[in-house]
Amino acid sequence: MNPMKTIHTITELKNELRNARKQGSSIGFVPTMGYLHEGHLNLVRECKKENDFTIASIFVNPVQFAPHEDFDSYPRDMERDSRLLSDLGVDILFNPSREEIYPSGYMTYVEVENLGKVLCGKSRGTHFRGVTTIVLKLLNIVSPDQAYFGRKDAQQAIIIKKMCRDLNLDVSIRTIPIARDTDGLALSSRNVYLSKEERASALFMPRALQLARSKMEDGLHDAAAVKELIRSEISKTQLIKIDYVEVVSLDLLEEVSTVDPRNTLVAAAIWAGKTRLIDNFILGEI
Ligand code: PAJ
Repeated sequence: MNPMKTIHTITELKNELRNARKQGSSIGFVPTMGYLHEGHLNLVRECKKENDFTIASIFVNPVQFAPHEDFDSYPRDMERDSRLLSDLGVDILFNPSREEIYPSGYMTYVEVENLGKVLCGKSRGTHFRGVTTIVLKLLNIVSPDQAYFGRKDAQQAIIIKKMCRDLNLDVSIRTIPIARDTDGLALSSRNVYLSKEERASALFMPRALQLARSKMEDGLHDAAAVKELIRSEISKTQLIKIDYVEVVSLDLLEEVSTVDPRNTLVAAAIWAGKTRLIDNFILGEI
């Protein structure tokens, strides 16, 4: 196994990838913002399994954070991340600077209409425009055969798939199940912000979703009742503020009144103190 190369510039990356492509390698890509956990590492493992050459990126993308959000304090640990990726056999770690991606005078943004304005888009108005812009740029730079995204960010994965379809990108978007801690909390780089009490309260979200899921398997199909059940379970703790609980179609992210067992996303977002956390489950495929 060749040692992992860490590359900071687009020119150097394109040169390396040209060589890999000449050898006929299939190229898999895992974009991240770093501070890696098992959720990220599962994406890398899947990518390694399905491709000859694996490239991961770490770039905390400023344009997907609103001015009042946590860009400056977002956790970073390049040394540890680098070791984890190298241990998994990643071929290239792409870690560009802000200037490399958004040189001064940068002006172009990409937006998937409608899908980016619901769920998390309601409280984070420009977030998905920032996500689609960076993901499109990275896909253009890397030109992978396959790119890997987690279902924890289901809305993000759905929006990215739609962007790729609408813009005729030649990449297959693969999605990977949510990785959870032993207590059931979905892994997130932001979990480090949580105090002990906040973390204990945050668990009400996965538990509420799990309960709703089992009730739905037992025949509960009324979306309003599903939402109410989740809200009332989460509200049993006073430390949590609910941002949203929604039952929407997987393809269009439109509110539904009845659950379709092949096309439904049940998604929630909460505030545990100053930390915003999301979780969901999916009936169907993305
Ligand atoms: P980040 O939050 O670092 O996540 C990188 C990838 O890991 C995303 O596809 C995300 O869905 C996935 N992921 C995170 N936690 C997960 C979990 N518990 N289980 C499964 N997958 C998980 O998402 C982003 O970065 C950025 O928006 C990015 C796509 C890199 C664009 O900047």
